[in-house]
Amino acid sequence: MPTILVTGGTGYIGSHTVVELLEEGMEVVIIDNFSNSDRKVLDGIAEITGKYPLFEEVDLRDRQSTYAVFKKYPEIEAIIHFAAFKAVGESVEKPLSYYENNLLSLIHLLEAMKRYGVANFVFSSSCTVYGEPDSLPVAEDAPIKKANSPYGNTKQICEEILLDTQESTPENRVISLRYFNPIGAHPSARIGELPLGIPNNLVPFITQTAIGIRDYLKVFGTDYNTPDGSAIRDYINVVDLAKAHVVAIRRLLDNRQKASFEVFNLGTGKGLSVLEIIQTFENATGEKLDYRVVKRREGDVEQVYADTSYANSELGWKAEKGIEETLLSAWNWEKFIHSKKSAL
Ligand code: UFG
Repeated sequence: MPTILVTGGTGYIGSHTVVELLEEGMEVVIIDNFSNSDRKVLDGIAEITGKYPLFEEVDLRDRQSTYAVFKKYPEIEAIIHFAAFKAVGESVEKPLSYYENNLLSLIHLLEAMKRYGVANFVFSSSCTVYGEPDSLPVAEDAPIKKANSPYGNTKQICEEILLDTQESTPENRVISLRYFNPIGAHPSARIGELPLGIPNNLVPFITQTAIGIRDYLKVFGTDYNTPDGSAIRDYINVVDLAKAHVVAIRRLLDNRQKASFEVFNLGTGKGLSVLEIIQTFENATGEKLDYRVVKRREGDVEQVYADTSYANSELGWKAEKGIEETLLSAWNWEKFIHSKKSAL
């Protein structure tokens, strides 16, 4: 069975992907520096799969420590690179740390790949590269718009770095996966999203409000040109998303690529508004949510959802879980972490 290096493997999407890889019988080496995650996530992964992944506490900004991992595990055949800073607002305040962390990590991995003969690479990208799309649903060949945050710009630049590196290193095989809005948690409620401090994203803010950590949810604008006035996104279950990574890894290892650099949208293809998410959360969980409409959040796009036809046909992958089930999984996870905290 192949050995996969997963950077950021204790993070939100990383941990769910590690579970899916282990359940497929693959070996996993995680690199993380816990900058936005917790060591206990390893226990959650082990509870679900019955297996502890191999783990190295390494900061990818450190070139030599990164190399040391490849030296220690010559069996690594492919990399899934999640490790990155990802908060849009924070990136506006600390652009240099975003560029330093997100770009250097990628550069060091690409150098290590050349040095240690690893050719297969899956990159964690984002629909943020499309900005406010001209037409919907948005397909992979839609124009890349000027990024509206340093974070978004790091994703664009990373894709360009990967593309340019193909010229000099044609043996590399790369798949860039552009995520829409990943939400929810593993159905076991043993891993999920663990936001540090006040959540930026909608669903963790909803679950924290419902459990009483936050007073009320702010709905950022109902004056958009959408049916109910609130902004529209494509919310994809994190387990569905994780499974797409297993498919991408198999595609690379089985040499089934159409080109050495490929890009796929990972979404459901369906747009839902903020108010629809609130309503569905209330229906699915029976919890009443206190919310207030406030002004738009700067930098938000009005609506974006994926054209998933290319990912569906080429990868043979499709998002399967419904929004009720997904929001319920986020709620079960919130209750689980709350019960743990209460027990301390
Ligand atoms: N929202 C609220 N209240 C909140 C939080 C969010 O109304 O407290 C709204 C937002 O305005 C937006 C929607 O809920 O309309 C979703 O917001 P998120 O912050 O959950 O997600 P975004 O779509 O803003 O961000 C996501 C990823 C980013 C990525 C971006 C690209 O989290 O990493 O998509 O558009 F850059």
